[in-house]
Amino acid sequence: MRARVLSGMRPTGALHLGHYHGALKNWVRLQAEYDSFFFVADWHALTTHYEERDVMERFVYDMVIDWIAAGLDPQQSTIFIQSRLPEHAELFTLLAMGTPLGWLERVPTYKDQMEKLKDRDLATYGFLGYPLLQAADILIYRAAFVPVGEDQASHVELTREVARRFNHLYGRPVDFAARVAASIAKLPKDDARYLEKQRKAFGETGAAEALAKGENLIAKAAREVAGWTADDTEWLLGHLRGSGRSILVEPQALHTEVTKLPGLDGTKMSKSYGNAIAMREEPAQVEAKLRKMPTDPQRVRRTDPGNPERCPVWQFHKVYSDDSTRDWVVKGCTTAGIGCLECKQPVIDAILRQQAPWRERAEPYLTDPKKVKAIVDEGTDRARSVAQNTMQDVRAAMGLRYR
Ligand code: TRP
Ligand code: SF4
Repeated sequence: MRARVLSGMRPTGALHLGHYHGALKNWVRLQAEYDSFFFVADWHALTTHYEERDVMERFVYDMVIDWIAAGLDPQQSTIFIQSRLPEHAELFTLLAMGTPLGWLERVPTYKDQMEKLKDRDLATYGFLGYPLLQAADILIYRAAFVPVGEDQASHVELTREVARRFNHLYGRPVDFAARVAASIAKLPKDDARYLEKQRKAFGETGAAEALAKGENLIAKAAREVAGWTADDTEWLLGHLRGSGRSILVEPQALHTEVTKLPGLDGTKMSKSYGNAIAMREEPAQVEAKLRKMPTDPQRVRRTDPGNPERCPVWQFHKVYSDDSTRDWVVKGCTTAGIGCLECKQPVIDAILRQQAPWRERAEPYLTDPKKVKAIVDEGTDRARSVAQNTMQDVRAAMGLRYR
């Protein structure tokens, strides 16, 4: 079975080239290799934009169309919408019970985002809890890998801690302590004391040596103690390691090489900065935007030599041009051998070439929106069966099996 990858994106409406290069391109690549789950994180959008209720639906489906346009294949990838699966909310609620407040307050994005989005009131319970909601999104599918940017690495780290704590609290049967006591009683007194000492040392300091000593003692008991069973070994190993069964799986962040494409003005590409090119923007508009794009501010006249390092157009060449074109740019720019419009032309051509198939693939979904909805329906069904399965285990582990 292929390892599962899961990632989500907030519905921000039609995606731009920065989204494509920074994340989506990577998803398209991953789907061939992994059991891939990609979802629209619409509840996450509400953690910051809870007052805006009229844009969500359009934003959600525009974004899914961009995913498909970019090459996400609904046959290979499971595509769904978070809010269609109340199981995410159920797991979030159950995990919230045992998650220390400090874990959430310490997530670096919490303070960062508060600072950045000063104009919004983010002193809300939902905003504080949102990394835990993200943990629920991930854990409910028992994902092995989560492709996320650097900025989200701390959320995956929190997810791992939450899973570990859950398994620690609930990964053992209710009579675990009694079973451990019974196994310990079979050990010679000195050995029992020695095992407790190693368990404490390992629990407090994580010392691998203490763990090894404890494991050796259990192995010795298995060979020498009369009436010892495999269960005794199992209980005592769990006791020694402070672990139980893995009900929730600790995921790993998948940091793959991503391409950074800045906006037209050289700062981060973002719709709200007005420096973005949408993935499916009209060709004439794409061309006009690029022609107007600022260049090296010190190259005032055509006859002034320029420096590509000072020019946002050069960042686009790094993503869109081959070596020989880039050589031509550096030479032409620094010797005033080429004009800026001339320099931009290969970029304009490359972007238009890249966008043509996106527009083509999006077309049937724009004319018949029922087609996107059908894809999401199917993905949601697939996701639901996995999510329900996990929730059964979670409810049972937490003593909520009665119905
Ligand atoms: N928090 C992510 C973002 O803002 C989106 C997201 C929500 C996510 N749930 C997730 C990403 C689970 C990966 C896995 O970009
Ligand atoms: Fe920028 Fe190209 Fe003009 Fe140089 S020639 S300033 S790299 S646009």
